[in-house]
Amino acid sequence: MTFSDDHQLVLDLIEDIPDFPKPGVVFKDITPLLASPKGLRAAINALVALAPPDIDVVVGMEARGFILAAPVALELGAGFVPVRKPGKLPGELYSEQFSLEYGHETLTVKTDAVLPGARVLVIDDVLATGGTVGATAALVHRLGADLVHVAVLMELGFLPGREKLAELGIHNYSAVVTV
Ligand code: PRP
Ligand code: MG
Repeated sequence: MTFSDDHQLVLDLIEDIPDFPKPGVVFKDITPLLASPKGLRAAINALVALAPPDIDVVVGMEARGFILAAPVALELGAGFVPVRKPGKLPGELYSEQFSLEYGHETLTVKTDAVLPGARVLVIDDVLATGGTVGATAALVHRLGADLVHVAVLMELGFLPGREKLAELGIHNYSAVVTV
């Protein structure tokens, strides 16, 4: 299997941090990638390359999804819409809850954030269990928008996130790298 230079640079600049945030977990740290001008450019280029044509809006999830989704939106000539954790957005909201290893997390979006029928690309940094993307996809559907693609920078291949998305009927999905 061959990787483009962009993909190889992304892989090279993701750092393994053992025992973070808790013992036994190897954290995949994207901050070295973000801090590198060439790395950041490679990450954005690689995500843009996964985007279908005519995207109206890029949706990014708080917090790390924001970092990648906004520059992808600029590159595509699309708008950016934030999906946020509770208590951060004003006005009327849709909320979706999903399960974490311990407890629950909720994500919210403004009910008027996207026009019905808009072509939406969802961007996040990592697909792990798929909970975050699953809840975001549900929010996009509640907005009446068209979720045309989900793209992440990195998929954790040892977790069943991809299978979870398939179960949820999310088949238009791709990852820049699988680690
Ligand atoms: C992290 C990561 C993804 C999510 C992936 O977000 O940025 O959004 O976990 O996990 P999942 O597929 O199991 O849902 P988190 O909310 O932990 O942190 P962040 O606020 O730094 O993005
Ligand atoms: Mg996140």
